[in-house]
Amino acid sequence: MTDYKLLVKEAYEAQKMAYIPYSHWAVGAALLTKEGKIYRGCNIESSTFSPTNCAERTAFFKAVSEGERNFVAIAIVGNDKDTPIGEGDFCPPCGVCRQVMTEFCQSDFEIILARSYDDYKVYTLAEIMPLVSLPLKGE
Ligand code: THU
Repeated sequence: MTDYKLLVKEAYEAQKMAYIPYSHWAVGAALLTKEGKIYRGCNIESSTFSPTNCAERTAFFKAVSEGERNFVAIAIVGNDKDTPIGEGDFCPPCGVCRQVMTEFCQSDFEIILARSYDDYKVYTLAEIMPLVSLPLKGE
């Protein structure tokens, strides 16, 4: 059983590292592997905008680059840097990050969106990426 609260806490820790001089929108993600390891990710922006990397993809790319291929869940938090925890809204992953999830995850992969330490919603990848047949056959 996934420890949602632990993953949300890890996502808030990851959010502290967000590099956001342009949008001031801080995002944190915590990605859980099948073996129980957690990879944190934050968004990293660029003055030329397009190289900006979302928190979710930072977490995935860190994990995949360390040899991980089996994922269970990801927790995501995101808010304006001046908005106190609990006063913002949920921060759903962008389409590009959802696409990356389909590359490495099964339809039952869980996406936890949190707006505070104990206010969160859980979705499956199938729910947020309808019409895609998972798993993909990339290997
Ligand atoms: N961002 C993420 O990191 N993840 C999301 O799910 C939504 C958007 C980042 C990209 C950019 O640095 C900032 O949030 C504003 O879009």
